[in-house]
Amino acid sequence: MTDETWMETELAQLHAQGLERQLQVMPDSRLWRDKSGACHALGVGVFMLDGRRILNFSSNDYLGLARAPAVVEAAAAALRRWGAGATASRLVVGTLPCHAELETRLAQFKGYAAALVFGSGYLANVGAVAALVGRHDRILADKLAHASLLDGATLSRATIRRFQHNDVDHLLRLVRQKPASARDLIITESVFSMDGDLAPLRDIARVAQEHGAMLLVDEAHATGVWGPGGTGLIGEWRLQQAVSVAMGTLSKALGAYGGFIAGSETLKRWLVNRARPFIFSTGLPPPCAGAVLGALDVLEKNHCLGADLLRRADVFRKRLQAAGFNTGGSVSQIVPVIIGDNQKTLALARRLRSHGILAAAIRPPTVPAGTARLRLSVTLEHTQEDLDRAADILATTAREEGLM
Ligand SMILES: Cc1ncc(COP(=O)(O)O)c(C=O)c1O
Repeated sequence: MTDETWMETELAQLHAQGLERQLQVMPDSRLWRDKSGACHALGVGVFMLDGRRILNFSSNDYLGLARAPAVVEAAAAALRRWGAGATASRLVVGTLPCHAELETRLAQFKGYAAALVFGSGYLANVGAVAALVGRHDRILADKLAHASLLDGATLSRATIRRFQHNDVDHLLRLVRQKPASARDLIITESVFSMDGDLAPLRDIARVAQEHGAMLLVDEAHATGVWGPGGTGLIGEWRLQQAVSVAMGTLSKALGAYGGFIAGSETLKRWLVNRARPFIFSTGLPPPCAGAVLGALDVLEKNHCLGADLLRRADVFRKRLQAAGFNTGGSVSQIVPVIIGDNQKTLALARRLRSHGILAAAIRPPTVPAGTARLRLSVTLEHTQEDLDRAADILATTAREEGLM
């Protein structure tokens, strides 16, 4: 056996700092019988365990579509028709009619000429960023941009400059330093994953257009929730002209798994030829494509899902703020409760778990040092009553832990 003591030593250090991450298996408890004996399938956001209603605030299944009958049925139909896997890279023999249909639907949904589906949102970001810039170019990325964007940036070998979070003046100063021969790619999220705040997208788009920079906007947490019919913030503000690369994931509000880039036909052709996670990996499994087609049908028929969710999240956030919690700049379905200290955040998450509230303790390096937090995702499965109860339990528990 090779010597693994170095791993043990470093893991012990992580553990001591409250930074070790561990896997937790979710209880298989979602089927439950009520007093009359009827069997109910509950979702991911709320489920029954030992007769107790558990509120899960750690899931990104914002609209409760992962277990929605229409979505599960569409996934099952695609599974039966096309099989469990795509069997090869899309460029070899792996492009199935369900991939083509999904890409047409996603392009229409986002208001772009074309879309290309990847194996995950992470792969879409890594693939697109590394395909668009090279060693003589620059990437200007928001300080809080997601790890997948930064990993793509590293792979691209371009010069990486970070602008202060949502600081358009800082971005402008960096844009003005562009060497004549370089291409600039500006990168931001539209709804930030750990803070739940929004990018000043219209201002960033203006900077990009005025300076001829490419602009990639990650709509992982906006897709399905924000904008008309869930099309995202690019759609809300009609920024398709300025946002040359619109990234979305199929893994959050759309309830399945996978990622995509929407843009021009030329961009799609370029990515098919240059995005390595697309070229050198097996195509998206057909059941995922089927599930997302089902989810898009649900969104088309129910235009208000995102708006309902945001209203509910707003009431919840205000209750937490009134109780004295710091929810940062959140205005979305993602509500952070910023604690600061890693160990105290972990202890609070553990106590909440014992009260039937599942909330992820997010620590560095996912968030900057000293800003450890609980990240609470509100979903449509949480009723107003659930949210009121959760806010009360949070306030009581935090007080008992000496955090208020
Ligand atoms: C902002 C952002 N971009 C991209 C991703 C990656 O998406 P996926 O989970 O589909 O790989 C995530 C997921 O955590 C995210 O939060």
